[in-house]
Amino acid sequence: MKTDKQEQQKHPQNVRAMFGRIAPNYDRMNRIMTLAQDLRWRREVIRRAALPERGRLLDLGAGTGDLAMEALRQVPTAQVLAADFTLPMMTVGRKNKPATIRWCAADALNLPFASQSLDAVVSGFLLRNVVDVERSLSEQYRVLKMGGRLVCLDTTQPCQTFFRQR
Ligand SMILES: C[S@@+](CC[C@H](N)C(=O)[O-])C[C@H]1O[C@@H](n2cnc3c(N)ncnc32)[C@H](O)[C@@H]1O
Repeated sequence: MKTDKQEQQKHPQNVRAMFGRIAPNYDRMNRIMTLAQDLRWRREVIRRAALPERGRLLDLGAGTGDLAMEALRQVPTAQVLAADFTLPMMTVGRKNKPATIRWCAADALNLPFASQSLDAVVSGFLLRNVVDVERSLSEQYRVLKMGGRLVCLDTTQPCQTFFRQR
């Protein structure tokens, strides 16, 4: 069961403010916190997205666009969109990531894309931040073409091991 504090943390205004603050250091923090494992996870996400040549992929909740960049690395002919609702995260991404990524302001609960228009939708560490996971997944499903792939990368808290916070 979620506590009031957890619900409050997911309020869009709070999520945006938090990522706005950490945007300049986000990529570095990610590498440190995952011991650089995220690079391997991102390769696997894009591999599972099975993007065809010249396919259209959406990196949703893209932040600074690491999944978008990996998509272009694996399929250089792809049309890659990176969407997020925190402008400073995308500003950092636009400065550091390939210029062919198309950046777009969007809310993961209400996507500004036509139905059945994308070959793949991927997200990294997005779903833990949205207030309505089902709504976001249903939007992602709506914009996928028939046979398209939806791949979500996230981590959960281990049930019992010394990694679990007390
Ligand atoms: C933990 S970061 C992940 C960034 C990137 N996907 C990655 O793999 O490193 C979560 C991102 O999701 C975005 N986000 C959270 N809720 C969102 C929503 N409802 N719509 C769009 N973006 C959202 C945040 O602004 C933030 O950039």
